[in-house]
Amino acid sequence: MEIDYDRIIKVPEEGLTVPGIPEEVIPEHMKNRVERTLIPGECIRNKIISLAGQLSSDYSGTKELNFVVILKGAAVFAADIGREIFRAGGPLIKYHFIKASTYGTEIKDIGETGRKVKIELEPGDVRGKDVILLEDIVDQGFTLLETKKYLLKKAGVCSIKSCVLLDKKLRNPTDEVKEIRKGLSLDYAGFEVPDRWVAGYGADAGEDFRHLPFIVIVKEDYYLNK
Ligand code: IMP
Ligand code: MG
Repeated sequence: MEIDYDRIIKVPEEGLTVPGIPEEVIPEHMKNRVERTLIPGECIRNKIISLAGQLSSDYSGTKELNFVVILKGAAVFAADIGREIFRAGGPLIKYHFIKASTYGTEIKDIGETGRKVKIELEPGDVRGKDVILLEDIVDQGFTLLETKKYLLKKAGVCSIKSCVLLDKKLRNPTDEVKEIRKGLSLDYAGFEVPDRWVAGYGADAGEDFRHLPFIVIVKEDYYLNK
């Protein structure tokens, strides 16, 4: 399969296989909690180079870009994309961090209808700024929506564009979730992933896997029964 990294990449549930890109090997000690590799590290790297190129050219006249990184998930993505923007000759990057926590279980249960989001760490000096909001994965959209509302209404940012690595394609969204997802413009997006629990590259399952350089599908049963 030829991949156009400049567009959002639809990843099938079987995982992304690309000629010339080696498959990742799941180490033996992870096999009880991981089903399979979903996105190889090299595909993520290529995608980040492309996103960095788009941001560098869209903001070529700008001196400085203000990133607001949603912790913890987007930390890895934010670190890598910042360095690629430097390599692409893009603007200087200022990093700000926000932590939004979701009440409820780590892994969403079947039939879950809503999530409460609380801002746990406020970003510093963002008032009056145009910011890029970085997120690891958009699922039902509550986190991105509530973080945006907070930044605009309470933190006084001027405008927000969002940049997300993974966009989960939900199988059975509720009407509320459909509305939320419709209203969330993802200005820069990496991969569309199936409606499974995924982890790696910053995203976790019960705090596992954030350090993986690739993305896996998790064995949900392991974490739900923990
Ligand atoms: P949302 O509020 O339903 O969009 O959920 C988004 C947040 O939940 C993200 O910031 C992630 O931290 C977390 N999340 C949702 N789905 C996954 C997943 O499949 N793997 C890891 N984290 C996820
Ligand atoms: Mg998150």
